[in-house]
Amino acid sequence: HGSLGEVWDEQMSSSMLGKRLRKVVQNYQAMNKYGVPFHTKGGADSGGGPKRTGPELLCQLKGKVGVTTLTPELKPFSSLPWAPLLPPRPLTSDLGPFRSCAVVSSAGSLKHSGLGKEIDSHDAVLRFNAAPTVGYEKDVGTKTTVRLINSQVMASDDHRFLSSSLYSAGILVAWDPSPYSSDLNEWYNRTDYPIFLQYQKYRRLHPQQPFYILHPRVEWQLWDTIQANMAEAIQRNPPSSGLLGTVLMMSLCKVVHVYEFLPSRRKTELCHYYQRFYDAACTLGAYHPLLYEKNLVKRMNQGPDRDIFSHGRVTLPGFNSFNC
Ligand code: C5P
Repeated sequence: HGSLGEVWDEQMSSSMLGKRLRKVVQNYQAMNKYGVPFHTKGGADSGGGPKRTGPELLCQLKGKVGVTTLTPELKPFSSLPWAPLLPPRPLTSDLGPFRSCAVVSSAGSLKHSGLGKEIDSHDAVLRFNAAPTVGYEKDVGTKTTVRLINSQVMASDDHRFLSSSLYSAGILVAWDPSPYSSDLNEWYNRTDYPIFLQYQKYRRLHPQQPFYILHPRVEWQLWDTIQANMAEAIQRNPPSSGLLGTVLMMSLCKVVHVYEFLPSRRKTELCHYYQRFYDAACTLGAYHPLLYEKNLVKRMNQGPDRDIFSHGRVTLPGFNSFNC
């Protein structure tokens, strides 16, 4: 059954990946689809400076990342006819604060975890994309307070985003990668997927369900923080939903438990607990700088390694629970 020594190694680097995955990551590292400027290529710590401690990282994250969502008065939305569909106030003004929160990664290692009751015992639960609860209650629980979805899921025919009951529970928060500049006009004219079209359609079909759009600045603030703490150049793509959702909940909750983001003893190449698809890239990253996200989360974790090993559980303080 393995040992504690096998929990996530916070020094993980692309050189420790298998040959195939290392190639894929290297290819992404060479690309720069979103126009990340070159001066941020190497991090502040890449010169061999002292590594930040967990508490220092938490403070840096709190200082650099401001979770916010689009509101109708922001340009260019203010001059568009559908602006009134956007919530008048940002998510962080409308929701919480919560005492304890769970972030449920969609990892295959949740399968047979029996974590459902524990996850449901939290005041708020965040899930990702098309991750279901029906049929998986024993392992992932039943409660959904927030569902963070990417624009690809919103636009894909397979996910039946506009009609599936999967998306009808809780508050929806959508995101799509913008250019690094986070210029809203530039983003509006070239989103990765048609997030705004799908947003309008969904809002008209389900006007009662709260639905926010993440300000794309958040992704790049988070990206800057990851790169600033890594010795190697990370993929110049936005962080994964997993880290975005974690930081979102750290803005709303006193304490956040993240499940199976750092893999437990159940670690597996099974990509999602709800699909029969195997790929190590789901856990280690290819497009997203997921490897480095996990290194930072491991360093910030305030719980024992035993929690990671047995429950895949990480404990992070909410941004309002500590002073810097
Ligand atoms: O695949 P999807 O993005 O919907 O999964 C949600 C998040 O869960 C990912 O962004 C990633 O952070 C995390 N995840 C993981 N390991 C997996 C699958 C997902 O860490 N095997």
